[in-house]
Amino acid sequence: MDKFLIQGGQKLEGEVRISGAKNAALPLLAATILADSPIRISNMPNLRDVNTLVKLIAGLGVAIEYVGDTVTADTSTLNNQFAPYDLVKTMRASILVLGPLVARYGEAKVSLPGGCAIGSRPVDQHLKALEALGAHIEVENGYVHAKVDGHLKGGEVIFDMVTVGGTENILMAATLADGVTTIRNAAREPEITDLANMLIKMGAKIEGLDTDTLVVTGVESLHGCDYAVVADRIETGSYLAAAAITGGRVRTTHTDPALLECVLDKFEEMGAEVTRGEDWIELDMQGKRPKAVSFRTLPHPDFPTDMQAQIMAVNAIGRGFATISETIFENRFMHVPELSRMGANIQVEGNDAVVTGVEKLSAAPVMATDLRASFSLVLAALAAEGETLIDRIYHIDRGYEHIEAKLQGIGAKIKRVSG
Ligand code: EPZ
Repeated sequence: MDKFLIQGGQKLEGEVRISGAKNAALPLLAATILADSPIRISNMPNLRDVNTLVKLIAGLGVAIEYVGDTVTADTSTLNNQFAPYDLVKTMRASILVLGPLVARYGEAKVSLPGGCAIGSRPVDQHLKALEALGAHIEVENGYVHAKVDGHLKGGEVIFDMVTVGGTENILMAATLADGVTTIRNAAREPEITDLANMLIKMGAKIEGLDTDTLVVTGVESLHGCDYAVVADRIETGSYLAAAAITGGRVRTTHTDPALLECVLDKFEEMGAEVTRGEDWIELDMQGKRPKAVSFRTLPHPDFPTDMQAQIMAVNAIGRGFATISETIFENRFMHVPELSRMGANIQVEGNDAVVTGVEKLSAAPVMATDLRASFSLVLAALAAEGETLIDRIYHIDRGYEHIEAKLQGIGAKIKRVSG
């Protein structure tokens, strides 16, 4: 099992090129199922999760190719609507093929994704929304079997809580439904806007982008198009955090400040100097120790849960103390015991964590538990004195393309060791 060996203590300086967003790439790939002619998606990040979904879509009989940073798909040879457990269990977002398959082919059998380290992650809202559009849903032996006679019917969908995946699933399904669908309490993450923009390019009729109410007028069919995946705002925030925690200066390119304003505001509250360009962001910590910052994770445009672990790591060496509340997932503090092994002072009470900054963290063998927690351990190791060994880093390969090369490019002493 691969591990990272990181020698901490360097101020990180330089430029990082940001990749396409994992959390946009996955729904965009699922949406290829809706196209009745070839579709090309570029700026696709080469990640384990992306490759898993490409494999799953190929298993449907779709002619799909992933060459360089571009995926091309032709659904004319699609010959089944079955998404098996062995693939879905490794990548939960596979549930996103459910909506497109039912909408276009009238039937789908998709494995329930099951939970993951950060929570039970149910999909009840996805199923409730599809039923609101006339799908008949049966859950049996760990599989969702969805069916509709003829086409889905446009209708009213009201989510009980903001759900990114739920919004994406029903948005895709509604594009081919008969009539108009109104989606209320819709998630407003930039990755949903990216999906809607590609669907519109494919011929879909969608209004209310970036708001919590989406109105979709169903059409007969959707055609292929050329599209590029939006920049990864979480990867951007993660590398800017590397500058903040080491007192360095990092410029992230091929990104967009508008995607993560809430996070940039927090970096400025820490005392960092943040410069925004059209497609770049520079964070200069000027050798200073950051001020610890409090926040609550909330749906976009508020503070993203996917940046919680990374900013907690920065707070761990911050001046003063801060309170972090995780309101989205029920178990997203698994990085806390690992950070504590490195000398962090963090008290957890339910979904609240109080972090009291310490001058220095110290190297220690630690273990990654989930994707974003893994990056928070990398950040802590970059700031810690000594050499840190991080185990189970297969988690990090799910969501950070070329991570060693990008970190080495800004001066980090990191190498991957196997065994
Ligand atoms: C997406 O997950 C992201 N993944 C997650 O990123 C991100 O943390 C999350 O949205 C929140 O922003 C992808 O886009 C592939 P949700 P998703 O449905 O869609 C509950 C990362 O690190 N819920 O918005 O699964 C759910 O349990 C990953 O890149 C239900 O109860 O998240 C959670 O508590 C981690 N029933 C909350 O809603 C449902 O049917 C938000 O989940 C659906 C969700």
